[in-house]
Amino acid sequence: MSPTQLYFRQLFAGRDFGADNPVCCQMENFVYLIGDRETRECVVVDPAWAIDDIVNVAEADGMRIVGALGTHYHPDHVGGSMMGFRVEGAAGLLARCGCKLHVHQLETEWVRRVTGLSANDLVPHASGDHVEVGGVRIEWLHTPGHTPGSSCFRVPMGGQAGQGDALVAGDTLFLQGCGRVDLPGGDSDEMFRTLSQRLSTLPGDMELWPGHAYGGHHAKLSDVRRTNPMLRARDLQQWHAVRG
Ligand SMILES: [Fe+2]
Repeated sequence: MSPTQLYFRQLFAGRDFGADNPVCCQMENFVYLIGDRETRECVVVDPAWAIDDIVNVAEADGMRIVGALGTHYHPDHVGGSMMGFRVEGAAGLLARCGCKLHVHQLETEWVRRVTGLSANDLVPHASGDHVEVGGVRIEWLHTPGHTPGSSCFRVPMGGQAGQGDALVAGDTLFLQGCGRVDLPGGDSDEMFRTLSQRLSTLPGDMELWPGHAYGGHHAKLSDVRRTNPMLRARDLQQWHAVRG
């Protein structure tokens, strides 16, 4: 795949979608569109807040949405009830586009509970799976801790030998900090293993594309490793000291 074939867009809450929703404007969420410019197909990562706005961006680019990927079950990423109000999300996208929501197999029940989707609406995945969109192969990385089935997606950017790939990270890792571990299904020790083992082997010149704009919109993994205190702990004892 050539670099020009890849379609990759980061959409920012309150700017690119949901501008008329004051809650959305405060959440600093990112939604991603990833696809193949030649086949004009794309997927949405974390469809939430304003489905029409997201679909309109894709359509204005001449792209057709053929699927959705959920990094985890929280309503600001897949829709559902949150803090007493309703967030539009995957259910609306699936109804409009007739596609399915891909989630990690450990996340399916959580996602069904918050979105109201059926098992038939979901495609369960395990780490190492690939989701293909035209000629783009997105690799599924299971990165638990924030939630049991939290996942990151590795997107080849057309570079050599995996260098410079994109890491679409949901709430597993931000430029500053990482996802909280005190919500239902969160696991602090598992988050430490994700940060110190599962993500530590990825090349430093991958670009981190997080689920929220905490500390910035995107950055090289090597820079995040220097500046993000959550990546400094060497063992569980240090980790618990850093997390407080
Ligand atoms: Fe989350």
